[in-house]
Amino acid sequence: MSKTAKLVLDGKEFDLPVIVGTENEVGVDITTLRDRSGAITLDSGYANTGACVSNICYIDGEAGILRYRGYPVEQLAEHAKFTEVAYLLIYGELPTLKQLLKFREDLTYHSMIHEDMKKFFDGFPNGAHPMAVLSSMVASLSTYYPESDEKAKDRNIIRLLAKAKTIAAYANKKTLGQPFMYPRNELSYCGNILQMMFAVPCEAYHVDPVLEDAMNVLLILHADHEQNCSTSTVRMVGSSQANLYASISAGICALWGPLHGGANQAVIEMLEEIHRDGGNVDKYVAMAKDKTSGFRLMGFGHRVYKNFDPRAKILRKTCDSVLERLGVHDPLLDIAKKLEEIALRDSYFVERKLYPNVDFYSGIIYKAMGIPTEMFTVMFALGRLPGWIAHWKELRDDPKSRINRPRQIYNGAGIRDFVPMEARG
Ligand code: CMC
Repeated sequence: MSKTAKLVLDGKEFDLPVIVGTENEVGVDITTLRDRSGAITLDSGYANTGACVSNICYIDGEAGILRYRGYPVEQLAEHAKFTEVAYLLIYGELPTLKQLLKFREDLTYHSMIHEDMKKFFDGFPNGAHPMAVLSSMVASLSTYYPESDEKAKDRNIIRLLAKAKTIAAYANKKTLGQPFMYPRNELSYCGNILQMMFAVPCEAYHVDPVLEDAMNVLLILHADHEQNCSTSTVRMVGSSQANLYASISAGICALWGPLHGGANQAVIEMLEEIHRDGGNVDKYVAMAKDKTSGFRLMGFGHRVYKNFDPRAKILRKTCDSVLERLGVHDPLLDIAKKLEEIALRDSYFVERKLYPNVDFYSGIIYKAMGIPTEMFTVMFALGRLPGWIAHWKELRDDPKSRINRPRQIYNGAGIRDFVPMEARG
């Protein structure tokens, strides 16, 4: 029997349908509330608002569960390749061998960017943030591939997945002032990212399998996270029927902020600051607890996870193995471990359920791999790409989807008459 919820407003009762998800999550459907009662619901920050019904990703923040299309992220990180996970997210099922080989072949075939686009990089000033470059270049792809009909949809998805890593690596090379390295067809998706970022034309480059595996795990763990800020942005922009490149470019900008994907860069900057300041971790923990300081422990806390972040749990192990393999002894890691230890015992963090999140460890791993700090959020974007694409596709394939258009409660001045300039003084 279908459930309903009852809302009483000004003495009048309204029955509202209740939607129950696969894992028994309950949502009160208020779609018709305004038409029937004149009232809207208010939820700033959307902390308690379901914006859509989706089949892609499931999170239980209390239990620390994350699944892509039903598969636990732990299993995917251990056994799958990033391209398989991308296929799963975008098309709904794990690929057969034949499907995967075709998918990989397509991604390889489309991985170069148009030669003319290389000139765009010359226009950016030295020191341009690579997230700005990535977002601009992804939006620019729509000038080369303007077809947005149904038939072009899959081709554009492949192009974007294939070319984004090339653009990201070129953005890195631009920052370093080194020549761009073309993708190499015999390398894997992750191997190619490393090759295009680190190789130079004057010497042979061999992809380190440990780094390739770490990159694979990092990208898989970032691949989707249901209605986070950037994915909701992609869906919001896509709901106006903007093309794939424009929608994803907007998502990249949303990811850039330090409260979202930009946190991995902010974590390293914070650890460096603590190190420069003599490594006094207690001082920074105290600052994070002091609301007047304006300082937060970057890489701690999450809107959804209130027990632990399952991605952080996996990355903690990856972090140890990468640092061991590379023989890196980084004083920042010692500070990070100390910070984690103190914060996990401190009642401020315990009461507010603030735990290290995925960005706490990913930054440390990227740093050990030799990836420049400003590129960290770009790496997050490469991982999140299949998730964004899957959500954009889900929205566009849904014949019932409407343009996203929230309401508001107006709290400004009441009506008043225009005052001429002479009278305003
Ligand atoms: N350091 C110190 N205090 C914190 C922190 C932190 N990192 N995060 C939250 N708090 C406090 C906050 O001041 C508030 O305290 P009170 O209840 O006394 O006012 C309480 O904890 C709840 O915080 P909130 O800001 O209401 O939580 P939110 O759900 O709006 O924000 C968050 C979630 C991730 C933006 C926030 O925890 C934060 O700013 N963390 C640091 C940035 C970060 O690491 N972001 C990466 C998130 S993981 C990658 C991703 O998926 O985007």
